[in-house]
Amino acid sequence: MGDDFRASFRVQSEDRLAFWAEQSRHLHWHKPFTKTLDWTNPPFAKWFEDGQINASYNCLDRHVLEGRGGRIAIFFEGEPGDTKTYTYSQLLAETKKAANALLDLGVSEGDRVALYMPMIPEAVISMLAIARIGAVHSVVFGGFSAESLRSRINDAQAKLVITADGGFRKGKAHPLKEAVDQALENNSCPSIEHVLVVERTKSEVIMSDKDVWWQDALGKAATDHVAVGFDAEHPLFILYTSGTTGKPKGILHTTGGYLTGASYSHRVVFELNSEKDIYWCTADVGWITGHSYVVYGSLANGATQVIYEGTPDSPNFERWWEIIAKYKVSIFYTAPTAIRTFMKIGRSVVDGHDLTSLRILGSVGEPINPEAWHWYHDVVGGSKCEIVDTWWQTETGSIMISPIPHAFKTKSGSAQRPLPGITVGIVDENGVPVKSTHDGSEAGYLTIDEPWPSMLRGIWGDPERYVETYWSKFPGKYFAGDGARFDEDGDIWLLGRIDDVIKVSGHRLSTAEIESALVEHHWVAEAAVVGAKDEITEQAVVAFVILRQDELGDAPNEEEIGKVLGNWVTEKIGAIARPRQIMVVSELPKTRSGKIMRRLLKDVAEGRPVGDTTTLADSSVMNAINDKLHEGATD
Ligand code: WTA
Repeated sequence: MGDDFRASFRVQSEDRLAFWAEQSRHLHWHKPFTKTLDWTNPPFAKWFEDGQINASYNCLDRHVLEGRGGRIAIFFEGEPGDTKTYTYSQLLAETKKAANALLDLGVSEGDRVALYMPMIPEAVISMLAIARIGAVHSVVFGGFSAESLRSRINDAQAKLVITADGGFRKGKAHPLKEAVDQALENNSCPSIEHVLVVERTKSEVIMSDKDVWWQDALGKAATDHVAVGFDAEHPLFILYTSGTTGKPKGILHTTGGYLTGASYSHRVVFELNSEKDIYWCTADVGWITGHSYVVYGSLANGATQVIYEGTPDSPNFERWWEIIAKYKVSIFYTAPTAIRTFMKIGRSVVDGHDLTSLRILGSVGEPINPEAWHWYHDVVGGSKCEIVDTWWQTETGSIMISPIPHAFKTKSGSAQRPLPGITVGIVDENGVPVKSTHDGSEAGYLTIDEPWPSMLRGIWGDPERYVETYWSKFPGKYFAGDGARFDEDGDIWLLGRIDDVIKVSGHRLSTAEIESALVEHHWVAEAAVVGAKDEITEQAVVAFVILRQDELGDAPNEEEIGKVLGNWVTEKIGAIARPRQIMVVSELPKTRSGKIMRRLLKDVAEGRPVGDTTTLADSSVMNAINDKLHEGATD
């Protein structure tokens, strides 16, 4: 594989489009395309435009028709210990029934369907059934609140929600249907016609006229369904993600290009041998990693994979390692936060398990620090596995920068090179490539310089925001929002976000979104949120709030205020956005033009001496905050 790939670096520079056309021909096209890329109206790209394709057919039917129907597609491991196995034939049969059930419920081509589900096979089946009939899924992570679900349903005008009575997390049934009911109450999502409910936890739920049990709907549905081809640029899914403003953006991906990127990258980055490997990506389908590397990339490639419902600590921290040993996982893909959590607990939880089946270890979602990299390499990988540190985003659809196993000498902490077919750059504020230094280059902004098949096609309902957010800072180039630098070998080191997006345990959050949630509380006059460095989660949410004294009533103490506002954020956005710390302050540091200087607040939140305050309108503000900090903070 390494040699092939060194060779393909040459192919791409000679003819990048021919390279991509070749990659996409690994897929089954109902109607072959003749045109690879239309970039006449940038940044609106059209890939493989005159071709027709069906994503579900590629993930299922093709394998069955080509004689791989008996291969295991999914080893499902429920958190309570129940297991279920699906061959490709079985997964196809279920998906056909689900597709017919959706049609019976009035869903048709182009309609949006929201998913709010636990990590169970029905989540994968739902996504593939929706894609199969040309509808568009919008998966909302089950950890988001009812209110977040409601705003996503309304933004996409979804016709149906698929959910479950609950999912098992940390030994408990986490209610999902209840949250859907809350999201829909008082007719607040008028576009929704039905709610399809999978029975998982057998928790008590209230079923209204709109609600239909999954098991009943599939039981009644016809068993056969013929997948037709859709235009390559037909929308496949919307996935909401946080940006620099308060409102999450619906990132739109289309069929042919996305599937090309997801399957190509999955094949090369993990050096997949679909007949031998057992693959496990721990991501939830609520995030892009779950879309590209639990559903589309891995299934299009005919991989055998593990899906685990719960958290790594249920019932104890042995769980993941038991699963790897049990299924003889050979490719494992997870986030650095998880590795750091295990590092802190100590190697004994890992050491007791036979992990010799492992061959490739992937990392995603945040920079992996060298210490965690080495621990992953030595303790998990027994010093014999290749580590692939993969950089990409919801918007890029698939991995953009990563070492390719055996083609590179890997380095702890560097994602190294763009994949063949991808062209990236690092530029300064003026869009000029960064200057070389004795040990590589200066730090700058990461850009992607040419269109790629799995690139986002836009922001749902907001084409201007698409142009403005990604293509205006450096005209003609995609602005990723990450800082980066080259080292002396030309390898890329990612330096984290340069905007107000933060990463907490690999989950993407917006400081602006948390701020607007906080100021919606009647106690809060003003709020500033920063991402402070955290040993385990990479970043943690720290909030500074100014209170409205007149609204406080019985003057609760700071601890109570912190609790109430923390719960409020959980309710508004979800538990993942709950601040680690909320500090009540009487003023926020602002420039003369009224801009909050988050940099100074970050210094405070990270316990550093406060930096340069000369541009503050009132420089005494930081002293007051510092004094306050030393009195003790709320939690
Ligand atoms: C960060 C996740 C460093 C980055 C797939 C990016 C990384 C954001 C890496 C996208 C990595 C992802 N090294 N940083 N290997 N992978 N990131 O949309 O800041 O949830 O912009 O997609 O995660 O987050 P998203």
